[in-house]
Amino acid sequence: MVLRKVARTDEFQENKGKEVKVEDARIAIFYTKGKYYAIDALCRHQDGSLAPGKLDGEVVECPLHSWHYNVRTGELLDYLKGVKLATHQVIVKDNDLYLDL
Ligand code: FES
Repeated sequence: MVLRKVARTDEFQENKGKEVKVEDARIAIFYTKGKYYAIDALCRHQDGSLAPGKLDGEVVECPLHSWHYNVRTGELLDYLKGVKLATHQVIVKDNDLYLDL
């Protein structure tokens, strides 16, 4: 397990996301109801970043053309079956967020 520090808790607001870069990977981290979720940041449609998308519970809407993903499972919820973004474990220690990549 390789933990990488990627952000601080005070960079997050309720129901908002933030994109972080780890080497070449772009990861979107979302905060809702006291929990953090991390998924690959790029939408499978046309590579829009999901981080600024509107979050409603566990569902984020891509800001470009409104595809929806579950931020806990990475699953695309409309249009195509079986499409899934990679998810990543988020670990919170003190006020820092770490990803297991
Ligand atoms: S790029 Fe996400 S819906 Fe088009």
